[in-house]
Amino acid sequence: MRYVTAGESHGRALVAIVSDVPAGVPLDAAAIDRDLARRQHGYGRGGRMAIERDAVQILSGVRFGRTIGSPVALVIANRDWDQWLDVMAVSGEPNPRARVTAPRPGHADLAGVLRIGADDVRDVLERASARETAARVAAGAVAKSLLAELGVRVVSFVTRIGGVALETEPDPREVDQSAVDGSPVRCPDEGVSAAMQAEIDAARADGESLGGVFVVAAVGVVPGLGGYAEAGQRLDARIGSAILSIPAIKGVEIGDGFASASRPGSAVHDSILYEEGRGIVRPTNRAGGIEGGMTNGEPVVVRAAMKPIPTLMRPLPSVDLDTMKPVDAAKERSDVCAVPAAAVVAEAELAMVLADAYQDAFGRRSVAEMREALERFRDGLPR
Ligand SMILES: Cc1cc2nc3c(=O)[nH]c(=O)nc-3n(C[C@H](O)[C@H](O)[C@H](O)COP(=O)(O)O)c2cc1C
Repeated sequence: MRYVTAGESHGRALVAIVSDVPAGVPLDAAAIDRDLARRQHGYGRGGRMAIERDAVQILSGVRFGRTIGSPVALVIANRDWDQWLDVMAVSGEPNPRARVTAPRPGHADLAGVLRIGADDVRDVLERASARETAARVAAGAVAKSLLAELGVRVVSFVTRIGGVALETEPDPREVDQSAVDGSPVRCPDEGVSAAMQAEIDAARADGESLGGVFVVAAVGVVPGLGGYAEAGQRLDARIGSAILSIPAIKGVEIGDGFASASRPGSAVHDSILYEEGRGIVRPTNRAGGIEGGMTNGEPVVVRAAMKPIPTLMRPLPSVDLDTMKPVDAAKERSDVCAVPAAAVVAEAELAMVLADAYQDAFGRRSVAEMREALERFRDGLPR
């Protein structure tokens, strides 16, 4: 299973096409919309979130609530497109006053115009904007639904916003996703949630922006997904690439990641024990569910670092690309902090990688075929 997206931030709509979708995956627009809403909310989001209420339209690949093995096309309208016709129309002449010539440090603006030779940063920023991640979340909902059919649940929660961090991360098996979603910053601890919101308030008052850290995890994953024999099979590499493809994500760890580097091996690796009836058990999961490029049957635990939002209300120095004179960087309507939303995008990315890995292992044609192969594989595991 894989996806492509199209669409600009203030264009008519965002589009996702998910291909290689097995037949028989339950899919309805309301379930996708729930994830779209989870991506839109979160303390620290900008004014646009009040305008947009994302709703998906399923154009193809689904009959009467189930996929039929053909590509699934999804469309999310940009509700305020008609306010942007003088800037984003497909034909006619652009409004010269709407040109953007002061690239924002940290965004795709400067490197983008240098890449494509544009004289208007808007040609770049409209697509580089993380508005595109709404289409990813819609595509990821297809993967999540397939995974749910195979007994896998994908969860996420925020562990740090700026200087405020959760001290002890919960075991993803015990995370109540609806309780997490009840927190405005999607953090499982109420006290820390409140401190994170205060941190965002202070940043907003200062014209600043904030980044942070989140965990995205998959629970109920069978061992042996991915592979050790070829570089392209390694699941940690595939997950790392998918999570780093999210705008503003600058670091990814699997399991204990960087912390492992300073500990001796006996405090890093997870013992292998056998218990009658339960089979092989791992008393710890420091590896984050992946050994040798494969799932090992423990929850897959991924931690990602998001940098602060590049658009600042107190902008950094930039240059005007027309005159090369110093100016303040451009200001677009912007989030102060989008770590809770990025975690929802990461659920979609992790789900897509895992759905594809399940298809590699258990077949690509239908949910029924995959379930049967999965059961046969499970029956062969040591008990
Ligand atoms: C969910 C989400 C929302 C974002 N919102 C904004 C925003 O409102 N303003 C902004 O400047 N950057 C925002 N970003 C970050 C930029 O999209 C990102 O920094 C930019 O595309 C440059 O890519 P890079 O940071 O990976 O280098 C957001 C990112 C995500 C994942």
